[in-house]
Amino acid sequence: MSQRADNAEDLEEGLLTGTRRPLRTPFATRFALKKMLLALVILASIGLLGSMLLAHPKTLTPVLGLPANVQLEWAQYSPYIPHGIYSGPPSGCEITQLQRHGARFPTSGAAKSIVAAVIKLQAVKAYNDPDFDFLKTFTYDLGTNDLVEFGADQSFDAGQEAFFRYAELISTDNLPFVRSSSSERVVLSATNWTAGFSAASHHVYSPILSVILSESANDTLDDDMCPAAGSSDPQKKTWLATYAPPITSRLNAAAPGANLTDTDTSSLISLCPFETVAKGTKSAFCKLFEHEPGAFPGFGYSGDLDKFYGTGYGQLLGPVQGVGYINELLARLTETPVQDHTQTNTTLDSSPLTFPLNRTVYADFSHDNQMIAIYAALGLFRQPQVEPLDPTKPNPERIWRASALVPFSGRMITERLKCAGSKGDAKTVRVRIWVNDVLQPLEFCGAGEDRVCSLDAFVKSQEFARSNGAGDWEKCFA
Ligand SMILES: *[C@@H]1O[C@H](CO)[C@@H](O)[C@H](O)[C@H]1NC(C)=O
Ligand SMILES: *[C@@H]1O[C@H](CO)[C@@H](O)[C@H](O)[C@H]1NC(C)=O
Ligand SMILES: *[C@@H]1O[C@H](CO)[C@@H](O)[C@H](O)[C@H]1NC(C)=O
Ligand SMILES: *[C@@H]1O[C@H](CO)[C@@H](O)[C@H](O)[C@H]1NC(C)=O
Ligand SMILES: *[C@@H]1O[C@H](CO)[C@@H](O)[C@H](O)[C@H]1NC(C)=O
Repeated sequence: MSQRADNAEDLEEGLLTGTRRPLRTPFATRFALKKMLLALVILASIGLLGSMLLAHPKTLTPVLGLPANVQLEWAQYSPYIPHGIYSGPPSGCEITQLQRHGARFPTSGAAKSIVAAVIKLQAVKAYNDPDFDFLKTFTYDLGTNDLVEFGADQSFDAGQEAFFRYAELISTDNLPFVRSSSSERVVLSATNWTAGFSAASHHVYSPILSVILSESANDTLDDDMCPAAGSSDPQKKTWLATYAPPITSRLNAAAPGANLTDTDTSSLISLCPFETVAKGTKSAFCKLFEHEPGAFPGFGYSGDLDKFYGTGYGQLLGPVQGVGYINELLARLTETPVQDHTQTNTTLDSSPLTFPLNRTVYADFSHDNQMIAIYAALGLFRQPQVEPLDPTKPNPERIWRASALVPFSGRMITERLKCAGSKGDAKTVRVRIWVNDVLQPLEFCGAGEDRVCSLDAFVKSQEFARSNGAGDWEKCFA
């Protein structure tokens, strides 16, 4: 992957160095910006504006004070950072953006395990390591399931970025069409995104969230509709027993009598990302594991296994859960009605009010496990050797990393390009896909160096989706 920044220092210097900027620009500046923006919009309407001309958005997301290489080991709890460098499309394109909700609190199940581990640690009378002393006065006070402010900021910034990238495709009667799965954190991510989009346009273009797909009904933005699908528990259990024991021993030596288990260890490691994103600043729990070389990489690999065997290539009935969404994507790309017999809601998808086909920007808000199913159904992130992930031995060369695939606020952008062909001949429609700003190779539809496929070849390559999962969907209910 030529575009992946493998070097942690590059990421650190290039991408994570800003400081938190004020939420509001002073009135005078706002006024000036507004005039400038209006001028730019007029330029845009007479076709002189390249996206290069637009200023960079003022971002809200705070810097967390941990090196990028540590954040990248938090798997699906890593905050989004671009993993490549986006380059604007040639003019005349259409965009479908699929995005994960922003950072959240632990789920209620995870919170229970976390609280149990913290109680054990806090029952200890005297610690043998001063890094643990903060526990004497520590109070666990995180909520459950909900979007945190950092996650709202991430979503807002993503909305601003979308406006700055795609302003040329927007007009007052052609705003982005936005859908969301019904979890509150996903809905609030969508509405923070639309707020960011609107703010970046100085409220000239204010898209709204148009469709909320109920998670208790047919929903292409959630992964809970295939009852026979298995889980990643066996692989995660094997890996926990592989990486955690030395860390658990060290914790128990520092906190005598705590009797922590490997599961407790994993919960305590997770407090580093969860507390950090909830407070917007580095958690004291991070320090307990920073000098333990296996801790964050071990935790991160657990997340990679969770996704691979949960709804990814390692789960027989994982990819089929992405089929409904891909059939919706194909409908948008080809401007023809949705053809799907899996988890689409046919009532919603057959109405132009709830599934229009004539917009230029679409944005959908979803969950990590569902985005993984969609990647796997599409054919993205296949290991070159098509080997399953080994639950006892991480391959350092693997491309399957949850932090690069589905970080908090992670995103997949599909661009439909309608532009002159390479020889300047007839207009051809082509497709390219970005995941977290890495242009995907699309080898499955014959893309070359430019990583672009013809729409025809792309549609043909999606045989699995077009056949409703090649028999897998029926197996979900067998
Ligand atoms: C899309 O089609 C609808 C219904 O025909 C129409 O009302 C709307 O203006 C169209 N939107 C765009 C952006 O063309
Ligand atoms: C953004 O998300 C936060 C939750 O963190 C919520 O309180 C707020 O209402 C959201 N803002 C918008 C504009 O939806
Ligand atoms: C489809 O969506 C409509 C509107 O949200 C809802 O009332 C209906 O129950 C959904 N149908 C299925 C099968 O999910
Ligand atoms: C930890 O385990 C030891 C030995 O099994 C036991 O004596 C002790 O009571 C346990 N401590 C706690 C806090 O559960
Ligand atoms: C919901 O999904 C089921 C299972 O694929 C399908 O049979 C049904 O037609 C869908 N319902 C609607 C209203 O889309």
